[in-house]
Amino acid sequence: MTETLTGTDRSAGVAYNQLLAEDSHPVPEYLLRDSPLDRGEPTLVPVERYISREWHDIEIEKLWKRVWQMACHEDDIPDVGDYLVYELADLSYLVVRVGEEEFKAYYNACLHRGRLLRNEDGKRARDLRCAFHGWTWNLDGTLKEIPCQWDFPYVNPDEQSLPEVKVARWGGFIFINPDPDAEPFEDFVGDLESHFTLLPYEKRYKEAHVAKVLRCNWKVAQEAFMEAYHVVATHPQILAGICDANSKYDVFGNYARAITPNGVPSPHLSNVPEEQPLPDASPFKMRHPLTGAIYDTQEDGTVLVTSRDGRTGLFTEGGVWINGDLGEADPHMCQWLAGKQLEADDELWRKRRGDILPADTNGSDEIVEAESAAEEMDKRMEQMAAMPSNDASVREIGAAAIRDGLRPVLGDLVDNVPDAELNDSIYFTLFPNFHPWGSFNRIVYRFRPNGNNPDESIMECIYLAPYPQDGERPPAAPIHWIDVDDDWTAAPELGMLARVFNQDTYNLPRVQLGLHATKKDRLQFGNYGETKIRHFHQLLDNWVSRE
Ligand code: FES
Ligand SMILES: [Fe+2]
Repeated sequence: MTETLTGTDRSAGVAYNQLLAEDSHPVPEYLLRDSPLDRGEPTLVPVERYISREWHDIEIEKLWKRVWQMACHEDDIPDVGDYLVYELADLSYLVVRVGEEEFKAYYNACLHRGRLLRNEDGKRARDLRCAFHGWTWNLDGTLKEIPCQWDFPYVNPDEQSLPEVKVARWGGFIFINPDPDAEPFEDFVGDLESHFTLLPYEKRYKEAHVAKVLRCNWKVAQEAFMEAYHVVATHPQILAGICDANSKYDVFGNYARAITPNGVPSPHLSNVPEEQPLPDASPFKMRHPLTGAIYDTQEDGTVLVTSRDGRTGLFTEGGVWINGDLGEADPHMCQWLAGKQLEADDELWRKRRGDILPADTNGSDEIVEAESAAEEMDKRMEQMAAMPSNDASVREIGAAAIRDGLRPVLGDLVDNVPDAELNDSIYFTLFPNFHPWGSFNRIVYRFRPNGNNPDESIMECIYLAPYPQDGERPPAAPIHWIDVDDDWTAAPELGMLARVFNQDTYNLPRVQLGLHATKKDRLQFGNYGETKIRHFHQLLDNWVSRE
């Protein structure tokens, strides 16, 4: 039984401010800010918004051609003359580093007969020459040369500079805005930076960058990462260490924040009978925290599920029934245990199955060591999430371990960091599609439409990791595109998050299909637990209703 409490406006269990009060270190002001979205009317969003080409076209005209949006990271174009093609639907812009600390962005189209100036990202250009007839511009956008200029006597070179779009910088990212009348970026972003004082993004490097096409609308995709409400059904394996329903949600102008406490069990477990730990629990055998059923991966990759009342059933890794008395299983648990594993886990898996490892896999039976302190921190976070305790000291112990892991990189700075910032998932959304995680978490997401197809989107996950500030800034990871049919373990640089994404993105194409199938014309969102999505749609309403 999940917790359903009716007649209240918050979940039972510990309030986030209480956890902050129990913190072993001083808590900064920004964590204490309390700015809930007004409850107002229920948020009921038209289904059409996610599936229709007409709505997509409205978003292009009213939103994307006018709003500040993250185009790239500065380290994607580290040298003068480097450029990046930023595309959204059928819009295309060229972001150019024109000086050591100067960036410009142009409409990516030649002024002669319109060819894309660049179809790919590039390095150290001295100028921008169109590949069709050779019209050429200087990096600063002024016209350099027109072949056979005598044939264009009516063309005034002074009026032939590349049209620019506005550019701004935040946290090492480049934002652009095609609207010449757009409000200043500083006004748009507000005081978002004030949440990032301990470890600003400028002091991190781009450690990983993975992109993938998803078969769902861009809003379906990002909304799956804007609340902790889905954890109880989509990520049941972590309920013992995540206080999902007690997440705190706040809105601040054009950005919103969610904080999900870790190291505290989910309120959904409060009614679940105590069970003895499984003596032979493993990465492939687990008890379902809610139902108590035991999920045991078999050597052929199927999952044997035994319910509390002793019925058994065999299921595919996607949770489809194969045989047995038990007819239903949790697809996300099946996928977690029997789905694709990361390389290190895969070694365990093959050993379990008794596969003979190839002779040249030196050291293959060692668990792959974390390569950096940041990865080490992630590992500890995962261990913490698995701790079945509601003892406040779990958070303190977990934070201390993470502090130790970060000390080689960040030095004594870690002693200023509260337990909350080390334990908890703090995730922001800057309207419309930029999702930087707070504190010491490395994650940044971006979501956007894929071409003009409202049923497809591009999801990117970027890791911005700390590095020793007395050392050289490591080079930025290039974008690793994985195929639309790959699962996220094709990007092992994401670590355990790849497997969590597999659970999230298992839902997404099925949401899109359901949106086409539904008889209802509106979706409904929780007043508090889906605050960030409600806030997003309020802002979107404002944008599309503007003249
Ligand atoms: S289209 Fe670019 S030079 Fe002709
Ligand atoms: Fe998720």
